[in-house]
Amino acid sequence: MKTPKKFVIKGGRTLRGEVEISGAKNAVVAILPATLLSDEPCVIENVPEISDVEISLRILRELGAEVTYMGPHTYRIDTRGVLSYTVPYESARRMRASYYFMGALLGRFGHCRVSLPGGCPLGDRPIDQHMKAFKRLGAFTRLEQGMVDITTGEHGLQGTQIFFDCVTVGATMNAILAAVKAEGLTIIENAAKEPHIVDLASFLNSMGADIMGAGTDTIKIRGTKYLRGTSYAVIPDQIEAGTYMVAAAATGGNVLVKNVIPKHLESIISVMEKIGVKIEQFDDAVRVSVDGPLVKTSIKTRPHPGFPTDMQPQISALLCLAEGTSMIKEGVSEQRFQYVDELRRMGADIQVDGKVAVIEGTGHLTGAPVKACDLRAGAALMIAGLAASGITTIEDIYHIERGYADMEGKLRALGACIEKKTVPQDAVQHDHAQIARQDAV
Ligand code: EPU
Repeated sequence: MKTPKKFVIKGGRTLRGEVEISGAKNAVVAILPATLLSDEPCVIENVPEISDVEISLRILRELGAEVTYMGPHTYRIDTRGVLSYTVPYESARRMRASYYFMGALLGRFGHCRVSLPGGCPLGDRPIDQHMKAFKRLGAFTRLEQGMVDITTGEHGLQGTQIFFDCVTVGATMNAILAAVKAEGLTIIENAAKEPHIVDLASFLNSMGADIMGAGTDTIKIRGTKYLRGTSYAVIPDQIEAGTYMVAAAATGGNVLVKNVIPKHLESIISVMEKIGVKIEQFDDAVRVSVDGPLVKTSIKTRPHPGFPTDMQPQISALLCLAEGTSMIKEGVSEQRFQYVDELRRMGADIQVDGKVAVIEGTGHLTGAPVKACDLRAGAALMIAGLAASGITTIEDIYHIERGYADMEGKLRALGACIEKKTVPQDAVQHDHAQIARQDAV
């Protein structure tokens, strides 16, 4: 087991400069398993250095793939030697997105055995719609000792019509992964429209798949027997970009956020502008600055193109610093307000009732020892810590490292006072006292 680490932040520094956004986590965790669908090697560029990628690559290696590091953010993946279609609990439990190995292995072998996934503690996250898609494509599914066993029998995957009962990113991606190898036409209705769905489809199309309509709620896939190798760059991460945009605003900074697709940031930009943040858009960058007060707003999270649930905790941290009463309605996830207790420790005034949070902007937060309870909760605490007066220590940062590449390095380059330290189990208090005496950590 890795030694637990924590971030120690001395807040109150204004972020200035430029930050480069990495490849999208939620795209790459589907694209890496999708390399199993090709009979030739693939080169994937703009791969973010995050632990979810490490886990995906480890699973590919365990299955028998040859994974070669080609240089910064680039891997060559040769899955020709893969003979196994089993992803055991030990690997799958580390990452919720391991469920993409179901669609990919089913597409390749017509059979897979994948342990039910672990992942973020965001409440009940069923995968019934994934199973519905596989069954509609002609597969038989069964659960055996925590392993999902899916097989097509002799008839193989058959093109079909799939209507999702709710808008789901994961099931839409899994249906695409399996349907590209099905016989005939598959039509997915009520599909999710997130940029990472379009990216998965573009990647598969670059291998020779025939997918139309990704990014709309109807996706049509004509199955293909043979998919070739390809070279493909993952899109930039819209949520990482949004997180740095909010961090810049929370510290009253001026930051150029580079390597982004501004179109993917529309809903985030629109909300931030309502809060009073100034945002300039360029071809592949946005500049965030603040030249007036931050003001209250109301937000409801929705599937894309609505305001993303994955930005909800970060924007809440910003609204704690705004004037007035803001309201946030969570329209996607079951339990996404668990971070509120931690923000309260930093002086936030937030009341939660079911899927609604009411935030009284206090204009000020104070440093405290806190714990990240999931990935985006961790990002919100980072933002709060950067804006707060005094020292904040954030524990359980493995959640943050699942989805943010070198967050402390990127923030330090922007002028933040942040350090990653090994957790001395009994010495958090000592750290507070020691670092408070220093100008920089
Ligand atoms: N749902 C079902 N049945 C299913 C699938 C989903 O009822 O079979 C429900 C869920 O319970 C949830 C809603 O549908 O209430 C949306 O779930 P979705 O399937 O869209 O989420 P996901 O695929 O499990 C992905 C991201 C999450 C992100 C959500 C929503 C990946 C690997 N994960 O999860 O990312 O919050 O979509 O956009 O793509 C994160 O990056 O921090 C993160 C948690």
